[in-house]
Amino acid sequence: MLPDLDALEASLLNTSGNVKLDARFRTLFTLKGLASLSEDRMERVIEIISKGFGDDSALLKHEMAYVLGQLKDTRALPCLTKILSDEEEHAMVRHEAAEAMGAISSPEALPVLNKYLHDPDVSVRETCHLAINKIELDNSDMGKKEQEIKELRDKAHGDAIDAAARAAAPIDPAPAIVRVPNAQDEQNVYTLENVPLFRDTLMNTSLSLFDRYRAMFALRNTVQQGGKDAETPAVLALADALCDESALFRHEICFVFGELCHPASVPAMTRVLNDSQEHEMVRHEAAEALGGVLEEADDDAAQTQAVETLKRWAEDQQAPRVVRESCVVALDEMAYNNDPTQFQPMDSVAA
Ligand SMILES: [Fe+2]
Ligand SMILES: [Fe+2]
Repeated sequence: MLPDLDALEASLLNTSGNVKLDARFRTLFTLKGLASLSEDRMERVIEIISKGFGDDSALLKHEMAYVLGQLKDTRALPCLTKILSDEEEHAMVRHEAAEAMGAISSPEALPVLNKYLHDPDVSVRETCHLAINKIELDNSDMGKKEQEIKELRDKAHGDAIDAAARAAAPIDPAPAIVRVPNAQDEQNVYTLENVPLFRDTLMNTSLSLFDRYRAMFALRNTVQQGGKDAETPAVLALADALCDESALFRHEICFVFGELCHPASVPAMTRVLNDSQEHEMVRHEAAEALGGVLEEADDDAAQTQAVETLKRWAEDQQAPRVVRESCVVALDEMAYNNDPTQFQPMDSVAA
């Protein structure tokens, strides 16, 4: 039997006042899963999530904006436009709303994204730049050609990545680089030998943020698809970019580490979370990345380091709220998943 949407609404919105934050996150991702089952459910899920933005947790709201984007349905655009346009809203939530518009990729969102290309908050401005570039690329002949190449490769490597995993893959804020010099259309380019090429693009500050993001996701794909030897070099190339001056760029590197859950990222993510001078959005993603290592990596030393760092900041009342809450949610999620009487793990999180 499918879960009852009214009950999920009450849980997400915490109408009883007793629902813990990690449970609300799980509800959000349950709603995301249900939305794709029918048009009616999609509409109702968008309506439920749209009601949640009165909450006082920026962490939860940014996650809700993320999910609205991942639903890839233009009916979420009015809600997302409202959030982006609310200059009183937390910048991390507004950033996520702009990114969600990029994920939906409808040219309808271009006017509002262009408007906030000049926002006082640099992360909001940069996200609008990324979303505009993504929408323009997705809707261009070149973008469509790149999509064809990607599908051709997915088919050529059909055994390695199954269709269900492809369908569930998150929509990236910028598509990974698809073409490299001298590569055939059907050939995998996410290989160890291309790591220096992707790294050069990632680190090249004379390029646009959008192009550098494309290299970031190419390195992410290299960790996932380039074979065992390519994993650590690609993780370390990503970590090198944590010295970039854009907080948005740094937070996305940490988000990618959260997707990868690779033990080689733990020293860098520990450093970021422990740095109280670092931007809260970046530290939040580092906390989630360490949480991911707890869930998925098979490396005791890395997991011990991750738990210790998360505990430290979960208890630090001086830490920014989004940082503290990210650590609390990661630890509660670990406890929930280790509890044999529970069975509903959370499937993904927002950048
Ligand atoms: Fe983000
Ligand atoms: Fe996030």
